[in-house]
Amino acid sequence: MDFNLTEEHIMIRDAARDFAQNELLPGVIERDEKQQFPTEQVKKMGELGFLGMMVDPKYGGSGLDTVSYVLAMEEISKIDASASVVMSVNNSLVCWGLETFGTEEQKQKYLVPLAKGEIIGAFCLSEPEAGSDATSQRTTAIDKGDLYLINGTKNWITNGGTASVYLVVAQTHVEKGHHGINVFIIEKGMEGFVVGNKENKLGIRGSDTHSLMFTDVKVPKENRIGEDGFGFSFAMKTLAGGRIGIASQALGIASGAYELALQYSKERKAFGKEISRHQAIAFKLADMATEIEAARFLCLKAAWDKDQHKNYDLSGAMAKLYAAETAMKVTVEAVQIHGGYGFVKEYHVERLMRDAKITQIYEGTSEIQKIVISRSILRD
Ligand code: CAA
Ligand code: FAD
Repeated sequence: MDFNLTEEHIMIRDAARDFAQNELLPGVIERDEKQQFPTEQVKKMGELGFLGMMVDPKYGGSGLDTVSYVLAMEEISKIDASASVVMSVNNSLVCWGLETFGTEEQKQKYLVPLAKGEIIGAFCLSEPEAGSDATSQRTTAIDKGDLYLINGTKNWITNGGTASVYLVVAQTHVEKGHHGINVFIIEKGMEGFVVGNKENKLGIRGSDTHSLMFTDVKVPKENRIGEDGFGFSFAMKTLAGGRIGIASQALGIASGAYELALQYSKERKAFGKEISRHQAIAFKLADMATEIEAARFLCLKAAWDKDQHKNYDLSGAMAKLYAAETAMKVTVEAVQIHGGYGFVKEYHVERLMRDAKITQIYEGTSEIQKIVISRSILRD
């Protein structure tokens, strides 16, 4: 067993760290306040290869492994989780599925610009009545011969307003249940496709989350991904990898808050000494550091499983569950260590605490991760 990162891994981690410090940190508070999408910053992420990190270079990607992706996600999430969710969705939920299951035509037309970051993608599974209960799809895709007619509503779609390409899950054969579900590539601007209002959120306020409405949208048959009825399996396989991305986002939020709290505790004095020298604060820091290290190992293990072509459903769910719970706990403690200063925006930790909450909810809530984990260990 080797716990050392390779030189390439260190280089990627450092490049992501520099990018986050130099490009994301300036203006992060203002973007959060104004709910402003990091347009320029995302464009630069594309130019640096962060939006198609694991895609084969022949399709415009960086050709890196999942460990590199986790390292980069952690660094970017330390500073700006609104930017890192764009990165996670584009890499894990859009590019991966297209590269793994798309046709050559679909890859040339959609994957290449997505992997280069020239356009952004969105993954559309959730609906008003189908969140955790994802098989209950109400959006329909009626087979009309050479095209499908899509009708329905998707909820909470990340990149909903900024995306050009949407992977949309819909029910074609109700009588077959989840075996009747398909997934389609839908382009912005297709007739009958309307992007709803932007959600006003607690956290990751710089990311744009929208509902999407489809009314008799005509989608060419060649835009279906995989065989008829493959859509639910596609979504589950895609989410298994997506959870590694969100786990590393949670890890980054936690480690960003911890680093700020550690620094502050060494500077702030109370009762004649630095607060870090009060055991109550030192023990908080000890717990935070230990839990972050454990979360990091779970993220890297899941990434390693994926890179070794092992099954990563279980390790990815464990990483997502533990890292999300750690992010929430650590960010609350980071605010506490900052005292009153933690409650105001300039010190960053209140934003990280608000951002942490979403990691327990999206890409499968913590309760859903426990379902995935318990089913897996009981089955085995
Ligand atoms: N790979 C392939 N297939 C899988 C799978 C996997 N990892 N996990 C489940 N399946 C298959 C099952 O084998 C089953 O198919 P068969 O009947 O052919 O065997 C089918 O999926 C249904 O599985 P279950 O019977 O277990 O279904 P369920 O309804 O009891 O539970 C669930 C499934 C795990 C709870 C699932 O619905 C789920 O993951 N829900 C959470 C949804 C979610 O994560 N949404 C995230 C939206 S994206 C997002 O949020 C983006 C963002 O944050 C930025
Ligand atoms: P529900 O499923 O209604 O859950 C409510 C509560 O009940 C939760 O605590 C849940 O854990 C619990 N619960 C439900 N079922 C069970 C059970 N069987 N056992 C125990 N507890 C249970 N979706 C996309 O498709 N694409 C996106 O890009 C996307 N981005 C998002 C961005 C944001 C900011 C948000 C808020 C959501 C996003 N989502 C996206 C949707 C997200 O995946 C769902 O919100 C999530 O899966 C939960 O679904 P729900 O909101 O319907 O909650």
